[in-house]
Amino acid sequence: MSVQSTVSNWAVLTEQRLNELMPCEDNLQKEIFDACRYSLLAGGKRLRPALCMIFYHLCGGSADSAIDFASGIEMIHSYSLIHDDLPCMDDSDYRRGRLSCHRVYGYSTAMLAGDALLNRAFEIMSQPLSGVDPKCQMKALHTVATASGLYGMVGGQVIDLALEGKSCTEDQLWKMIELKTAVMIAGACESGCRLAGADEETAKAAYEYGRAIGLAFQIRDDVLDVTGDAALVGKPVGEDGESGKNTFVSMYGVEKCNELIAELTDKAIRCTEAFANGDELREIALWLTDRQY
Ligand code: IPE
Ligand code: IPE
Ligand code: MG
Ligand code: MG
Ligand code: MG
Repeated sequence: MSVQSTVSNWAVLTEQRLNELMPCEDNLQKEIFDACRYSLLAGGKRLRPALCMIFYHLCGGSADSAIDFASGIEMIHSYSLIHDDLPCMDDSDYRRGRLSCHRVYGYSTAMLAGDALLNRAFEIMSQPLSGVDPKCQMKALHTVATASGLYGMVGGQVIDLALEGKSCTEDQLWKMIELKTAVMIAGACESGCRLAGADEETAKAAYEYGRAIGLAFQIRDDVLDVTGDAALVGKPVGEDGESGKNTFVSMYGVEKCNELIAELTDKAIRCTEAFANGDELREIALWLTDRQY
């Protein structure tokens, strides 16, 4: 099976589950359910839940309910995108090939839709999951909570905004992408291992794999903002430069970015040695190096 079909098989399952977990409601709060569904069910690669599921299975997990946990990770990711696009952050009008949430539903509903997705995620991830050991689930939950919070994605977004329009050091730039993007991808990988009850060493290898592909992922995202096709990436291109963002392209140029992506991908591939059937992981790392969306 090709890598894209493995990831997209998990993407389809995640999509189906998200549709059920975030239903349409015809009540007084209808607007917020609509806004959540608008952003959540707009496509997207579903990379983070796919990684969670792949690691879960590589570590011997087999419960169908794990897809709920993985869907929670995607809700957190979708919330981060809604907030990232707000005028007080990146002020972006398009996301996943359609108008961004605040352009359709207004600022306050978009802000609350992000909040709602974040809380709904933890509601679902903390529910009993049939066939999953509650102790393992608690560890996985802690992994995701940490990865998405002050010491992870939120912290990275703060650095991103603080550095806007200012010159920054290479260390600051690496720290920013590690926190805003890599830690969440690493956390998704680690959480799959934790859910399955894997040992520390295995969970650490998964985290390091995710960290390496996550750093490469954000560098590729920065490159796509310069060389990408907006119709393919589903979001505007050229905005990083216009808003004075510090990016890997502004620091190093596209050619050096490609070298860094290749180095990080090699590093990720070395981490896969800890997994007996790690071919899929190697293919995913390679696929992401020159992704167009
Ligand atoms: C976009 O993430 C935000 C970054 C971390 C660069 P993705 O590129 O995974 O976005 P979707 O989920 O596929 O829309
Ligand atoms: C933000 O990075 C990543 C998040 C944590 C949401 P970007 O601001 O570069 O992501 P895009 O390019 O808008 O998807
Ligand atoms: Mg941003
Ligand atoms: Mg952005
Ligand atoms: Mg970007």
